Order: sequence, then structure tokens, then C-alpha cells
Amino acid sequence: MSQTSPQQIEYNLKVVRQFAVMTVIWGIIGMAVGTFIAAQLVWPELNFDIPYLTYSRLRPLHTNAVIFAFGTSALMGTSFYIVQKTCKTPLFSDKLAAFVFWSWQTIIVLAVITLPLGLTSSKEYAELEWPIDILIALSWVAYIIVFFGTLAKRRTAHIYVANWFLGAFIVTVAVLHIVNSMSVPVSFTKSYSLYAGAVDAMVQWWYGHNAVGFLLTAGFLGMMYYFVPKQAERPVYSYRLSVVHFWALISLYIWAGPHHLHYTALPDWTQSLGMVMSVILFVPSWGGMINGIMTLSGAWHKLKTDPILRFLIVSLSFYGMSTFEGPMMSIKSVNALSHYTDWTIGHVHSGALGWVAMITIGSLYYLIPRLWNQTAIYNTRWVNIHFWLHTIGVVLYIVALWISGVMQGLMWRAVNSADGTLTYSFVESVEASYPFWFIRFVAGLFIVAGMILMAVNCYKTIRQGTPTREVLDVPAPATSTAA
Ligand code: HEM
Ligand code: HEM
Repeated sequence: MSQTSPQQIEYNLKVVRQFAVMTVIWGIIGMAVGTFIAAQLVWPELNFDIPYLTYSRLRPLHTNAVIFAFGTSALMGTSFYIVQKTCKTPLFSDKLAAFVFWSWQTIIVLAVITLPLGLTSSKEYAELEWPIDILIALSWVAYIIVFFGTLAKRRTAHIYVANWFLGAFIVTVAVLHIVNSMSVPVSFTKSYSLYAGAVDAMVQWWYGHNAVGFLLTAGFLGMMYYFVPKQAERPVYSYRLSVVHFWALISLYIWAGPHHLHYTALPDWTQSLGMVMSVILFVPSWGGMINGIMTLSGAWHKLKTDPILRFLIVSLSFYGMSTFEGPMMSIKSVNALSHYTDWTIGHVHSGALGWVAMITIGSLYYLIPRLWNQTAIYNTRWVNIHFWLHTIGVVLYIVALWISGVMQGLMWRAVNSADGTLTYSFVESVEASYPFWFIRFVAGLFIVAGMILMAVNCYKTIRQGTPTREVLDVPAPATSTAA
């Protein structure tokens, strides 16, 4: 037996770089639109009587831009990085990976065009019309092939836990999207759902809730399990707990959707089932949060000097906060107060801005220098300023909306004891909400300012670097020769 010299293989970092840059750009656009619609709630005349700028059209533009442009670009880029590094092998196919990138960006541009035009299926978080839905399915199938193909040709015996979370996110989102988007097209730009009535609502919130559970949670947990140990330079606190976390989370989340439909025409038992599963979900969620935070054991002092680590760890605190609040809001009697109020919006953004955006921002500050041959980001002080702008923004946002949410719920249910009539008209509750909506607008300005600072910091880092080429020596296949 003789061994030839080792082969060199090169990771595909190009597609990771492309996604990383687009994540920052879409982050600014999505959050700027969020701030603009926040301003419209305070000053409705800001739609300038132009149909394309009405709140009803820009709101889905905001949610699509932050979830599918910012969040999903971040997940696609980091998952392509994590799967290569932890499997010690390049991506399964560079061409398919490039297709994933370009098709996904095309989908987002189509969303940016069609939503302001008012073309919508009217299903929340699944507004895009059927031709775009088909493109999403194609792009996602390519994503599945690249991710799982890379896992299949790994050079490691073990599949690192981050890939489990990412794999669950990728497969589940494909199933959710395909089932929920089933529709009957009546023209190129209009279709109607294949489902009707309560069934349609159930399918929609099975989709909607699991978009939260698998995209906004499981996917970002995959990111967390890779970047928190990397930045802390410590192994995951308990690997066993991470595996328990995984199985418990994916087996519970899928049942919780009906908590979005309490007191509706949905059968009562499904509502109760959704409630119970949601309450139990608190346990694995907190197990995962504790696992992430405790990864810092013995390295707590790093939090003082490392703002990137602070982004990552504070994101976990918001994850804990929103996964405590969510189960509580799933309890029917609590939901009777919170539903339709700003409390829900506050909950959404403690998860979205606190957890999703902060874990993404921290991971990108780690990743971007490494993708452009640098050891650190251009200016760490700016990262620190960004951390404070973002944290202050999120806290202002969610505290203001908790107060307005509970206030709205209480005002709507208040009755005069003498004759049982309502104490407040709806308009009075809207008037009382204005100060809190103004605070939310200011919070948005803080957050967008932080994102712009991040973009400048990343641009400077990229300008002074060159694209990283990372090669790995692997043993060449053994060849047999005559002795
Ligand atoms: C500058 C930051 C942001 C601002 C100012 C902002 C503002 C807003 C506003 C005003 C709404 C509409 C609320 C309503 O109709 O009452 C909204 C909804 C929403 N936003 Fe944001 N947002 C921001 C960032 C984000 C991010 C980063 C995400 C996700 C990663 C996100 C996800 C959502 C979702 C899912 C909804 C719909 C909530 C629901 O229907 O219950 N937002 N946002
Ligand atoms: C254990 C975890 C969680 C549970 C049990 C939970 C539960 C809930 C409940 C009960 C609602 C209100 C439904 C309603 O009254 O309409 C809600 C809304 C929402 N939650 Fe959570 N939540 C959890 C975690 C999260 C996280 C981590 C995020 C974000 C990253 C998130 C994002 C959302 C969104 C976007 C909505 C609004 C959906 C809509 O009406 O448009 N949740 N959640």
C-alpha cells in the first residue's frame, strides 16, 4: 500500500460572502420599512395618498423583508458556512449553491415589487402569489440538496448539533411552504387557497407558528450552537442537553399552532391541545437558553470587553424572555386579554429584534472579518455603540408595547357596572396608544442607526481585506501497489 500526497480541497466561501453582504443590506431596508410604518401609525398622512405607500401594503413588505430577506439570507449563508466547517468538506455543489443565492434574491426583489402593488394571497407571512411560491419551492429544494448533500459527503464521523437544528429548519420549512401555499390560480397574479373556512385557518397557523418555530427559532439555534462557542472559545456547556433540546423542541413546536386561533371556530380540543403543547414548550426552550448562556462558564469576564459576545449572549436572554412570554400568552385566559393588542406585537419583536436580529448581528461580526482575511472587525468600538443602540431600541420597543397592549386589552373589556355598556370607545383606546407608538418609532430610529453603523463597519472591513481562500489538506484515496 502506498499513500499519495494529500489533496487540497477548497471551501466555498463565495456564496457565504454573498449572503452575508445581502443580510446587512436587507436588514437595513427591512427595519427602515418597519420604522416607516411605525411612523405611519403616529402620522397616518405619511402614506401621501399613494396606494403603494399605504400601511396595508407596506406592513407585509416589512415582515417579508425582515423574515425572508434579512433572516433567511442570514440562515442560508451561515448554514452553508457551518455545514462545510463542521463536516470538513466543501459544499455538495457550487452551481446549486449559486442558484440558491440568485433565486432567493430574485424572490425577494419580486416581493419588493408585488407587495406594494397590492398583489397578495392575503395569508400572513405567505402573501406572495403563486408564481413566486413555485420559485420559492424550487429554490428551497436546491437548498435541501446542497445542505444534505454536504452532510452526506462529510469527512467527520459525527454530525455536529448545529446541523441538526439547521436540517430540521430546512426540511420543515419546505413542507410548511408547499402545504400552505396550495391554491387555485385564477390569473397570473391572483389565486385562492385550496382550503376553506376553519381548515384554511388551521393550515395557515400550522404554517405561521412553525415558521416561528422552525425558521425564527430552530434555524437561529443552529447559528447559536456554532457561533456562541466559537466567539466564547469554549465548548458547548452540555452537548447532551443540546441533543435533548433538539428532540424536545421539534416534537413539541409542531403542535402549538392553534394558540393563534383561541376562541375561534376551530374545534375546542385543538385549541386546548395547542395551549398545553405551548406551555410545555417553555421547558426545552429554557434548557436551550441555559445551555447557550452557560457556554460562557469560566469566561464571563469576556463580556466586559467583547461586544460581539454581548450581542450573542443578550440575544439568548431575549430568547428566554420571549419563550417565557409565549407559553404564558398561549393560556386561553391570558390570550383573551393579549390577542389583537400591542402585547402580541411586543412579544413578536422581543423574539424578532431581541433574539433573531441580535444573534444574526453577533454572528456576522464574527464571520465577516474571517471571510475577508481579517482577524477582527474594522472598529470594535463601533460594535459596542451598535450594541447599545440596538439594546436600547429593543427595550424601548417592547416595554412601550407591553404597556400599550395591556392598556388596550383592559380598555376594551371595561364595562360600566350600572348598565353593562362599554366604558371606552375603540377610538379612545387608539388615542391612548399614540404615545407608545411614538416611542416605538424612536426605538426604530435607534435600531436602524445601529444597522447603518454596522454596514459602514463591515464595508471598511471588507475594503481593507481580500476574499479568504480556505483550503484543507485531506488524505488522498489510498492506492494499492504491488509490494
Ligand atoms: C427597526 C426595527 C423594527 C421596527 C421599527 C418594526 C416595526 C413594526 C411595526 C410598526 C409593525 C406593525 C405592527 C402593527 O401592525 O401593529 C411590525 C410588525 C412585525 N414585525 Fe417588525 N419592526 C422592526 C424589526 C423587525 C424584525 C427584525 C423582525 C423579524 C426578524 C420583525 C418582524 C415583524 C413581524 C413578524 C411583524 C408582524 C407581527 C404580527 O402580525 O403579529 N420586525 N413591525
Ligand atoms: C415557547 C415559545 C413560544 C410560544 C409558546 C409562543 C406563543 C405565542 C402566542 C400565544 C402568540 C399570540 C397569538 C395570538 O394571540 O394571536 C404568539 C405570537 C407570535 N409569536 Fe410567539 N411564542 C413563542 C416564541 C416566539 C419566538 C421566539 C418568536 C420570534 C422569534 C415568536 C414570534 C411570534 C410571532 C411573529 C407572533 C405573531 C403572529 C401573528 O399573529 O402574526 N414567538 N406567540
